[in-house]
Amino acid sequence: MSADLLSSAPFAALNLQRYPAKHAKDLQAWDAADAYLASFIRKDAALVVLNDSFGALHAMAIQCGVAVVLHINDSWCSRHAIEKNTHTELIDYVGQVTTCALVKLPKSLSMLEAQLLQLANGITSPVEVYFSGMQKHVSNGHLALIKQYCDDVEYLPTQRKARMYRANLRPSQQRIQPYSQSVPELDLILQNVAGVFAEQKIDIGSRFFIEHFSQLPAAKTVADVGCGNGLLSLAYHQRHPDAALYLYDESKAAIESAQLSFAANCPQAAVEILHRDGLVGVTQQFDLILINPPFHQQNTITTDIAISMFTQAKQCMHADSELWVVANRHLNYQADLKKLFRRVSVMAQNAKFVILKVMR
Ligand SMILES: C[S@@+](CC[C@H](N)C(=O)[O-])C[C@H]1O[C@@H](n2cnc3c(N)ncnc32)[C@H](O)[C@@H]1O
Repeated sequence: MSADLLSSAPFAALNLQRYPAKHAKDLQAWDAADAYLASFIRKDAALVVLNDSFGALHAMAIQCGVAVVLHINDSWCSRHAIEKNTHTELIDYVGQVTTCALVKLPKSLSMLEAQLLQLANGITSPVEVYFSGMQKHVSNGHLALIKQYCDDVEYLPTQRKARMYRANLRPSQQRIQPYSQSVPELDLILQNVAGVFAEQKIDIGSRFFIEHFSQLPAAKTVADVGCGNGLLSLAYHQRHPDAALYLYDESKAAIESAQLSFAANCPQAAVEILHRDGLVGVTQQFDLILINPPFHQQNTITTDIAISMFTQAKQCMHADSELWVVANRHLNYQADLKKLFRRVSVMAQNAKFVILKVMR
């Protein structure tokens, strides 16, 4: 282990930026778990990095002389940050030879399990894996999964509040199938890929929103920003089957879930499902935009993504377009929306949620 890499100094010198940069404020693009993981990088490793947040691990691997760094990464924003910060094209792990993996533990246990199996499917002999995360984000569930799929699990001392486990991942041909979730009241069977938002249970905010879908206009074009498994678009399609639907999400698991859910429930729908950061780069205008905004990026709680989505939505609206937002009342998005739009109306609310209709 390199003691130098345990300090933040080498990361500071890399001048890494978070993405989206405007959300960064005082947040830096790496943490003590990255520093700890980086201390195990060896020059001769055939390295796979899982969940590199903004490219800190990739950049450090280049600095250590590693020839090729492969990735398993769900997030469009992280993938974009890795490419920007390292000036390289991200290469996905698809079963290439590997001798070592560094895992930044994801929040979702099912995503960790799917990622470990993706790696285990491609190896023919055990591979050394280092797992780390800040201790407040690491649970017994993470450790149980590591023990389930790995041998020789060792606990290394916690450093600057970063946990570390070393283990040998066993080869495996096991695969995780999407979770089929029946929604009888909508006559839908959702297909949820590991790690997608609301994987096991419909979000109560989405449910409240759908209960009020009779108020939505009949639109020709509809954007669903942060679509998750596509639930909102599927519910809209049931009422307005002729609408052209455009779904966007920064999570690969969401994109795959939405694709599978549309294929399983309404394969004839006119739908495009795109992996990207909100509506960045979209020049089309939509008659209707639906948003159930996220309130965190990885483990950081933030309203910045929601506000970015609203700003992006405005660019994609004409004079008669409607933006509908469902949100936790306590987040008070009404105030943010009023700064951006002329007309903001409360269409429904209960003790927890509010549904807002917004026009330019
Ligand atoms: C609260 S969930 C809503 C999911 C779905 N619309 C529903 O109602 O069940 C928010 C979604 O936004 C996605 N998301 C987060 N940041 C994003 C971004 N920058 N661009 C696009 N989608 C994003 C998350 O992956 C998640 O699927």
